[in-house]
Amino acid sequence: MGGLRVVVVADQRELALEGADVVCDVLARTPDAWAAVATGRSPLGVYAELADRRRSGALDTGAMTAVQLDEYLGAAPDGGPSLFGWMRRSFLEPLGVTDDRVVRLPLGGDLASGCAAVDRALDARGGLDLAILGLGRNGHLGFNEPPADRDAPTRVVRLSSTTLGDNARYWGDGDRVPASAVTMGLRPLLRARTVLLVVSGAAKHAILRRALEGPVGPDVPASFLQDGAGDAIVIADRSAWEGEEDTDS
Ligand code: F6R
Repeated sequence: MGGLRVVVVADQRELALEGADVVCDVLARTPDAWAAVATGRSPLGVYAELADRRRSGALDTGAMTAVQLDEYLGAAPDGGPSLFGWMRRSFLEPLGVTDDRVVRLPLGGDLASGCAAVDRALDARGGLDLAILGLGRNGHLGFNEPPADRDAPTRVVRLSSTTLGDNARYWGDGDRVPASAVTMGLRPLLRARTVLLVVSGAAKHAILRRALEGPVGPDVPASFLQDGAGDAIVIADRSAWEGEEDTDS
């Protein structure tokens, strides 16, 4: 069994630096790492810092593979909200990860077989080296909405009203966020050799404490990090940890 380490930092800038250090350590040890990459707001600073380090020559992403963590299903024909588009803009392009080094989730055809194929591909190479995750206000990891079993495979899910509301804010038009999605399962995520969870802001305080200090179980999927197989590193800014907005920043 791995261990859980919590690092509390002053603000989002420090969160970005600490988070980037974790990713750089993994890539230094395992240049051809497979890493699941969250979208959403929490890791944006980490990704920007990683891009800076790559530009300055301090980080080589040339051999890594990025694995898509989740995606909406049934997006509008005109495109509409796309988490892959977000991943491309925030992570793949700034870090120079080309399409041939991205494992994508299935969006059409036999989705169950496509999801099973992703899990088989991960198993075949011994699992993820790294999972970069954010925390949903309902305790989800990826789109593993509560209740979610720790053995949940990669699969199709319905998004909760909390998640739909939070995601609507990304796109500025609530009606356009599809109600179902594909997510990597908790099983492959919790088996990652390193799980990095980045959490920022007072709105995450209650669920963060519940996930790390409350009972472990399906009602708070992130609680499974307390006894996951790999190392879990949670980096929280002071607002998330203490529950008060940082008035200095
Ligand atoms: C996004 C994802 C979600 C988010 C979570 C937190 O790919 O899988 O689990 O990480 O909802 O979102 P933010 O960071 O926007 O608060």
